[in-house]
Amino acid sequence: MTGPLRVGIAGLGTVGAGVVRLLAENAAVIAARAGRAIEVTAVSARDRTRDRGVSLAGLHWHDDAVALAADPDVDVVVELIGGSEGPAKALAEAAIAAGKPLVTANKALLAVHGSALGDAAEEAGVALAFEAAVAGGIPIIKALREGLAGNRISRVAGILNGTCNYILTTMREEKRDFADVLADAQALGYAEADPSFDIDGVDAAHKLAILAALAFGRQVDFAAVHVEGIRRISALDISFAEELGYRIKLLGIARETASGVEVRVHPAMVPKAALLASVEGVYNAVLAEGDFVGTVFLQGRGAGAGPTASAVVADLIDIARGSKIPVWGAARALLAVTPSVPIAAHQGAYFLRLMVVDEPGVLADVTAILRDHGISLESMLQHGRKPREAVPIVLVTHETNEAAINEAIARIGKIAAVLEAPALIRIEPS
Ligand SMILES: NC(=O)c1ccc[n+]([C@@H]2O[C@H](COP(=O)([O-])OP(=O)(O)OC[C@H]3O[C@@H](n4cnc5c(N)ncnc54)[C@H](OP(=O)(O)O)[C@@H]3O)[C@@H](O)[C@H]2O)c1
Repeated sequence: MTGPLRVGIAGLGTVGAGVVRLLAENAAVIAARAGRAIEVTAVSARDRTRDRGVSLAGLHWHDDAVALAADPDVDVVVELIGGSEGPAKALAEAAIAAGKPLVTANKALLAVHGSALGDAAEEAGVALAFEAAVAGGIPIIKALREGLAGNRISRVAGILNGTCNYILTTMREEKRDFADVLADAQALGYAEADPSFDIDGVDAAHKLAILAALAFGRQVDFAAVHVEGIRRISALDISFAEELGYRIKLLGIARETASGVEVRVHPAMVPKAALLASVEGVYNAVLAEGDFVGTVFLQGRGAGAGPTASAVVADLIDIARGSKIPVWGAARALLAVTPSVPIAAHQGAYFLRLMVVDEPGVLADVTAILRDHGISLESMLQHGRKPREAVPIVLVTHETNEAAINEAIARIGKIAAVLEAPALIRIEPS
């Protein structure tokens, strides 16, 4: 065995403390698998006095996280601070510039600066590893970059945010509305005090930008991700979805089309029998379709100290073993320049719910507009009739395109008997 791999950890919160604990508790098995011991030698956080439930005895403490990059007793830097800018970015850049491998769980940093950091790491000849940045404990980065490396990937689809999946699952199971379930999720610690990154889809979009880069062998392009969250999903739409045989999930989807790659995060209706439909509560899952492998489906815990530390330590073991893997799956010069396709070009089926005053001729007006835009219907649902009162009407379209449905909805919204903006949810066939 060679000498130990000496690790400096910046950030001792949920994930950082989890990594310290995992490296200590599983030290023997990790050393055997890595071929050498992996030891934490230095740490950094804001509050030196805080009890983190793990022993920091004998470790160098740095008030300035960036100083870890220059610590002569640190071979590899682990960034677990978070945020796309500030100390996390400064530390990542400093570690790479110092020729030290960097391990991070920071999806925001990678989504926004992953391309530049990947270039810098390649130039410096150091590893940039980020298994923990997407879907926590699920080894999806390794799966795409290594296990499926022989395949052309046509689609990656995932439930990438446990908070949203918990909220949508609870809304369905308990027939409760979004705001009510969100408040409970915050009280239980499943949602942040400011939940917008999760529920507006931004966190899932950060992760999807990373997955799309690996799946399609191109640079990370966060700006190309179409992002919608779950705020507008109602208990009513969830119950109609159930009735029609679907579940509503916040999905991140990267898909190859004839004109480029679609990269989108939005609520989607998936058939109940689909693999992703059965992923409930805080669980995450990712499905990948490859030309030789077929469908691969991975499910597990997407967050929490244990699962996330498990992914960070897997990266450290790779580095200790001396594995050399291109950051984005291929050398920078060989990354593809596949264009991203705007959401306006999306082709698919749609769920459309209207609240209308039940009076003669309304449905005829709606279907005439759909016909004008070349949209045909697969099914329709209306429950009960309350003449002159508001009733929901649900329409499920055959495959059409986003531009056509948006134009039709704009016209439908102007019909006097249509009472509120129509609800529109894309249908994902699997
Ligand atoms: N939590 C999860 O389940 C999970 C899952 C996957 C990925 N991640 C990612 O992992 C990273 C860490 O998440 P977390 O949940 O562990 O966050 P956290 O619990 O909020 O911990 C953040 C840590 O960073 C430290 N910190 C903040 N500013 C600092 C600075 N300027 N210099 C040095 N240390 C600083 C904090 O110090 P103090 O403790 O002294 O305040 C704290 O220890 C994020 O990028 C997150 O997106 C988290």
